[in-house]
Amino acid sequence: MTQDNAFISFRNVNKFFGQFQAINDVSINIDHGEFFSLLGPSGCGKTTLLRMLAGFEGVSSGEIYIDGQPMSGVPPHQRPINMVFQNYAIFPHLNVRDNIAYGLRKQKLPRAKRLDMVDEMLDLSKLPDYGDRKATQLSGGQRQRIALARALILRPKVLLLDEPLGALDKQLREKMQLELRALQKTVGITFVFVTHDQEEALTLSDRIAVMSEGRDLQVDTPARLYEYPANREVASFIGTMNFFDGKVVSVADGEVVINVDGLGEITASAGTDPLLAGQSVSIAIRPEKLTLTHEKPDDAQYSVKGQLNNAAYLGERSHYYVDVGGVLQAVAVSSQNRNRGEDTGGQSRPVWLSWDSAAIVVLKD
Ligand SMILES: Nc1ncnc2c1ncn2[C@@H]1O[C@H](COP(=O)(O)OP(=O)(O)O)[C@@H](O)[C@H]1O
Ligand SMILES: [Mg+2]
Repeated sequence: MTQDNAFISFRNVNKFFGQFQAINDVSINIDHGEFFSLLGPSGCGKTTLLRMLAGFEGVSSGEIYIDGQPMSGVPPHQRPINMVFQNYAIFPHLNVRDNIAYGLRKQKLPRAKRLDMVDEMLDLSKLPDYGDRKATQLSGGQRQRIALARALILRPKVLLLDEPLGALDKQLREKMQLELRALQKTVGITFVFVTHDQEEALTLSDRIAVMSEGRDLQVDTPARLYEYPANREVASFIGTMNFFDGKVVSVADGEVVINVDGLGEITASAGTDPLLAGQSVSIAIRPEKLTLTHEKPDDAQYSVKGQLNNAAYLGERSHYYVDVGGVLQAVAVSSQNRNRGEDTGGQSRPVWLSWDSAAIVVLKD
């Protein structure tokens, strides 16, 4: 996808509030029918980007295109967009059916047609028998389904969702995530979804833009963001990551040899970014890609001895924290308790960590 055939295209967009730059040269392309998420910590500019897309806020420079059309000067109600907010904006004095039908009132539709459309939305929302209920008689999850139904009934080409599940408790949120994903695939509308919750973004999205301080750090699929983070910030924001300091020894034939503090010399794929001998790099390894054993493993590509000082038993898996000489931070290891998990009894003991070169991500400093 290029910016010319993208359905939504942010091109070098900047936004200033007075002296403060909230959005810094963001360029993002979103495909038709994608479930696309903006992910980043609070204050990184997600809502600002969404509001500019909707037209509630102007850009300071750059341009936003929807369906090939530049959006500057196009007011919100003329953009093919609808928006759902975190605090379900539904009307307490109306029943569910009238809430869903609210946006249709300006369209001159025959009553029978309108009722059909509402019934279809009630079915889609898994609330077929709730049409006559008062909005005040609904749970948080049900209210949020109504808010979604009310937006979807207008058949926007794009639906913007700003942390719509943020007010729900964890169990309900996870259930709603699956429903939302299924709903989006059913209606085929492009979703631009905002969240600060990385697990939520990974679960829902076709692709994600990871943001920090107004910039887009990396735009990629969930799997690629996790397995091939572009830099240290993305690597530490998505999941847990161990970082080690290293220096490039040599580069040849697409492979790089790196001398890593505490781990010794390792070989990894050099990737596409050129590396130079003598250059400082970070080595990143995910906790689940390390194997913890009591004896020195004989078939491992790489191994290092350490001291297990801390363990957390979490049911289906355990987290271990291992001190390795020459490495400042304890190395995090995550392991499935396929056999019964171990209870370390709070005791420190010598262990071995092993991994292979496929586990390694090389990041430029
Ligand atoms: N109308 C505004 N005036 C001044 N500063 C704003 C305004 N809207 C947002 N900001 C600032 O811009 C930054 C990004 O805000 P926002 O887009 O709401 O972040 P997020 O949604 O990622 O939490 C924040 O520092 C926020 O304080
Ligand atoms: Mg926000």
